Amino acid sequence: MSALQQKIEQVTAVLAEAVCDFSPVTFANSLGAEDMVLTDLIAKHQSEIVMFSLDTGRLPQETYDLMQAVRGHYSVPLQVYFPDSVRIEAYVAQHGVNGFYDSVDNRKACCHIRKVEPLKRALAGKRAWITGMRRDQAVTRGSLEVSSFDADHGLQKFNPLLDWTNAEVWEYLKSYNVPYNKLHDRFYPSIGCAPCTRSVTPGEDIRSGRWWWENPENKECGLHVASHIPKRA
Ligand code: ADX
Ligand code: SF4
Repeated sequence: MSALQQKIEQVTAVLAEAVCDFSPVTFANSLGAEDMVLTDLIAKHQSEIVMFSLDTGRLPQETYDLMQAVRGHYSVPLQVYFPDSVRIEAYVAQHGVNGFYDSVDNRKACCHIRKVEPLKRALAGKRAWITGMRRDQAVTRGSLEVSSFDADHGLQKFNPLLDWTNAEVWEYLKSYNVPYNKLHDRFYPSIGCAPCTRSVTPGEDIRSGRWWWENPENKECGLHVASHIPKRA
């Protein structure tokens, strides 16, 4: 059995365990490369897992194109959650439409309104959620576990791809003809909101194009706050 096949079997076992022990299970699908691997595996093996995307209102056009393509390609529905318009209006009145560039606090406040609050609604009533995070993506993710209790959100959290490499993610996408975000072909390894994501130069850190003006230790949007995030020395 190839190394990739082995990893695929491990992931499908984790998905089955999540369904068996923690139904109802939902998958947080950002439509990034890792999440497209999970989309494909869930559609093929565990279609009772529902999936959702957080549409911040500031996503790149290429992400919306992929969202539409996923709808046509897979029968598992992708539920889209939007931020509360009243909160967005108050934020924009106070800080301006691009106020997130002014300070880390302003940036986190924007992420809170556009991602964290909608995430809470998406997770309501679920007993487990699945993410596409990998350990080697960032300094903040080195000690991820495949399954642990997410005390911040009050349910089990699964990271089935935690030990996959970037190369394995791409081997999967190419081998199984999985649709992916066209920005990846233009040196965007990690994609979030358009104003907070830029391309990287070869050899640069995978997440260096995210919130590039901030320190690596700050670079989480609040979806994955947890005790494992290291503090600055
Ligand atoms: S993050 O800092 O934006 O959270 P990243 O893009 O690496 O980082 O995403 C990590 C995981 O968080 C994804 O695999 C996915 O499970 C979840 N996630 C991030 N953004 C979204 C989104 N817009 N919608 C749904 N899930 C998301
Ligand atoms: Fe706002 Fe940028 Fe966070 Fe998107 S990534 S929610 S635009 S601060």
